[in-house]
Amino acid sequence: MKADLLVTGISQLVTAQGAGPKRGLAMRELLIVERAAIAIAKGVFVWVGSEADWRGEAATTIDVHRRAVIPGLVDPHTHAVWAGDRLADFEARSAGVGYETILAAGGGIWSTIRATAAASEEELLSLAQPRIEALQRSGAAVIEVKSGYGFTPAAELALLSAICALAKRTPVRIVPTLLIHVPPQQSNDRAASLSAVCEKLIPEASQRRLASAVDVFIEREAWSAAEAERILKCAQQLGLGIKLHCEQFHNVGGLELGVRMGALSVDHLEACKPEQIAIVAASPTIATLLPGVSLHLGLPAAPGRTLIDAGAAVAVGTDLNPGSSPLFSTAAALALAVRLNGLTAQEALVAGTANAASALGLVDAGRIEAGLPADFLVLAGSDWRELVYILGANPAGEVWIRGKRVSR
Ligand code: NIG
Ligand code: FE
Repeated sequence: MKADLLVTGISQLVTAQGAGPKRGLAMRELLIVERAAIAIAKGVFVWVGSEADWRGEAATTIDVHRRAVIPGLVDPHTHAVWAGDRLADFEARSAGVGYETILAAGGGIWSTIRATAAASEEELLSLAQPRIEALQRSGAAVIEVKSGYGFTPAAELALLSAICALAKRTPVRIVPTLLIHVPPQQSNDRAASLSAVCEKLIPEASQRRLASAVDVFIEREAWSAAEAERILKCAQQLGLGIKLHCEQFHNVGGLELGVRMGALSVDHLEACKPEQIAIVAASPTIATLLPGVSLHLGLPAAPGRTLIDAGAAVAVGTDLNPGSSPLFSTAAALALAVRLNGLTAQEALVAGTANAASALGLVDAGRIEAGLPADFLVLAGSDWRELVYILGANPAGEVWIRGKRVSR
């Protein structure tokens, strides 16, 4: 076998295995190889195994001196493109005002929508690029980025275009999602807004290939499950994936709808009830946990432990956004999932790699396996568990995307 690059001296190579029978039900098998090596050709893994078993030829060899290697992380939920800040909200919340109260009064998400509308595409890109770089440095090789701060169809399409332009400026694989975030503040405008979403926004986003999935925020202060169903049906008719923000503050039927419609993922779940855990656990829909929100908003954490014990496939993301999760590290989201959601280190690794890829409908990311893009991390230390143990420093020593070192 011939390779462009052989990476040797790997103390431990740890990866989830297999694309999973149905997008990745429950926990996947973990492969742990001590004293491992990986071979790469044309940006793709071509061989993975014990260093002593390598018999091929490599143009270049790199010794990582007994450091651990894991797959590049996949961040399955971010809102990385926004303008303005939410420091005033943060202060108000510190003084006891609730997130939903601020939103209902026209602040919160609305203030970010106003600030984002006032920014040019170039300004949005220069704000978003360092955020993507921060996530990348923390280990993310694939990042989902949602629109949602546009509000009008034209502004949402402009945000999706900005996300696609951002994708061209980074080695990270960006997965764009159209987020139908908040309904108009006047209730008699909702029907017209829904029609514009279904008849103009989703068809145009699909036709211009600006999004691979559509997400809806289902909540008392946002869309109802019935409204979301109409939106998601439009998306499915055009072949787009669907996902939901649901059970964040209240149970208004979002999780049940997502599972019934075959959503890729149901995200948040902080207010999830035991009977809902059983519903998602019996389905191929991924339960995506966002512990940065629990920390920043002081919400109870989503029941990760119970979800996994019930058989649900769990993913973890940063939810990077200015209002509910200013968390600029994908690795830190995994570290928080261990503390706040009760995941083990192994479960967190799977949740931040293979299961997060499944939450985006990707079968070729989040694993170290011959034939897949060579996205991997050389961790700072020799024991891979430092990925979720370390707080405040970066456990990702080197980030490699498609066979190239992009951060160190
Ligand atoms: O995932 N809850 C809805 N949307 C985002 C927050 C957006 C914001 O506060 O700006 C979330 O938490
Ligand atoms: Fe979100």
